[in-house]
Amino acid sequence: EKANLALLLDSYKEKLSQFPKEKGWMGQEVFMYQGFWYTSDNAFSIERMMAVQEIFQAHSSDIYVITQPKCGTTWIKALVYAIVNRTKYKNINPSDHPLNISNPHKCVPFLETEIIIKVYMCRNPKDVLVSWFHFANQLKDKSRTSMTIGEMLDVYAKGFMPYGPYWDHVIEYYKASSEEPTKVLFLTYEDTKIDTQSKVKRLAEFLGYPFTEEEVAKGVVEEIVTLCSFENLKEVNKNGDFITGVPNNTFFREGKVGGWSNYLTKEMSQILDDITTEKFQGLDISF
Ligand code: A3P
Repeated sequence: EKANLALLLDSYKEKLSQFPKEKGWMGQEVFMYQGFWYTSDNAFSIERMMAVQEIFQAHSSDIYVITQPKCGTTWIKALVYAIVNRTKYKNINPSDHPLNISNPHKCVPFLETEIIIKVYMCRNPKDVLVSWFHFANQLKDKSRTSMTIGEMLDVYAKGFMPYGPYWDHVIEYYKASSEEPTKVLFLTYEDTKIDTQSKVKRLAEFLGYPFTEEEVAKGVVEEIVTLCSFENLKEVNKNGDFITGVPNNTFFREGKVGGWSNYLTKEMSQILDDITTEKFQGLDISF
């Protein structure tokens, strides 16, 4: 099967020369396919995404967690996993809960790397940019110099990031959620931070796993919020690698709203505000 997959991925790689190409984040090439930019030849590559489109069969009971990178993927995966599996792990020692011994990305795999998972989470693009900035510089080859925040802004604003442009992706899922609210739940990182408990209840209802009154009275909602909290997951993931070259701790930096103001100048902030205002015109999205 692995050999077949490798052949399939190679056959997609041959098609890349037909796609628009740009120098994207960290000097890597990004390829435009179906309106979005992708990197090639890695665990989250355009080839793998094309293979998913060809091979993957969705089922009506599947749950998909959808985000742009750096918008809270890790957090929303942990929350969905903890809600859906809470009966299964009800009687185990809390320290044996999968979220207390492994990375949330192992509990809810990426579609490109394995196959699973319609819950959308987005985040203030300014915090997303700053999060990318740190993430990229942490993962870069040692031989490369670090990117400056200005360089990162330039690439990000043009959309030449993995899965960029950020705004177009958010718009697609905002519209999908407006058209089919029972199928796509649209969340923001910021709203989820302000009142995590009420968002967890909403998420559980949406997923078809609502909390009973008894569970609420027993504090099950708070338990899930604590299990999936930034502080807990950061501690659990302080060692080890998610995949080679990607330490578990890279997914947990600061976990705050509005940290961008420490990194972006007024001019940089204005550039992103202008794009956001123009692109999100008429949509009720606020961060
Ligand atoms: P910062 O870099 O601003 O700290 P993703 O998971 O989509 O890659 O997003 C990463 C961002 O989510 C990082 O933001 C990270 O710190 C934050 N994050 C990770 N786990 C979190 C959690 N449990 N609660 C809140 N934020 C979390």
